[in-house]
Amino acid sequence: MRPIIIAANWKMNTTPSDAGPLASAIAAATATDDVVRVICPPYVCLAPVRDALAGTGIAVGAQDVHPLAAGAYTGEISAGMLTGLATWCIVGHSERRRDQHETDELVGRKLARCLESGLRPIWCVGEQLDEREAGRAEAVVREQVERGLVAGGMANGEWAGSVVIAYEPVWAIGTGRTARGADAAAMADAIRSALEANGWTRDAAATVPVLYGGSVTAASIGEFLAEPAIDGALVGGASLKPDEMAGIVARAATTAAARRAAAG
Ligand code: PGA
Repeated sequence: MRPIIIAANWKMNTTPSDAGPLASAIAAATATDDVVRVICPPYVCLAPVRDALAGTGIAVGAQDVHPLAAGAYTGEISAGMLTGLATWCIVGHSERRRDQHETDELVGRKLARCLESGLRPIWCVGEQLDEREAGRAEAVVREQVERGLVAGGMANGEWAGSVVIAYEPVWAIGTGRTARGADAAAMADAIRSALEANGWTRDAAATVPVLYGGSVTAASIGEFLAEPAIDGALVGGASLKPDEMAGIVARAATTAAARRAAAG
């Protein structure tokens, strides 16, 4: 059975002084063993968030990592620097693809760096609005998966137990507009089939959690968790609000219990 995962992407919000208290408030509002919870603050807030979350069961993630181990790359952060601060890492977020011009090839190299370094990657994929309207959404996402696998040397399923994929339609991020649950589920199936088409066994592909991301709130999470193909959410704006996180994680815990019961 795949875990249910709720990951918070704080983006460029919070400071080293207010991040710890916010993380503590979220921990208090979301206590459960049934849901894998991850908070991804800005780099400079990793240490206070780690300290605030000690003993809560919530993991800490970074929002990005450099593909190389070290070198003359001003302003960049390597996987090694994250040791002791983060155990997860978002890779290939659409805002970085848009603003830092990250390609699928670069995203694949970052994935490989995460996996070699023991960071659990949340690999973001998703189509633009014009691509969905042209009926190309699945083809675009399948291509993102294939190119990332090839660039990361991951086309053999070796990392099946570590990789998490977040399907985030770009037009749904920060817009208040969500995908339909059924469309997100169809995309989760397409993502697992793209893994199979690129060297993974059916069993390996079936172990990969696929999250939905894009304007998830306590009110909208249910539609996605009602889909057996969807295993949780990557939450942006609402993840800065403890009340919203409480509702999202409570719904996720209900789903986890129901799936466990159904699996016998
Ligand atoms: P949002 O962001 O929930 O604010 O739409 C999601 C994301 O970018 O991961």
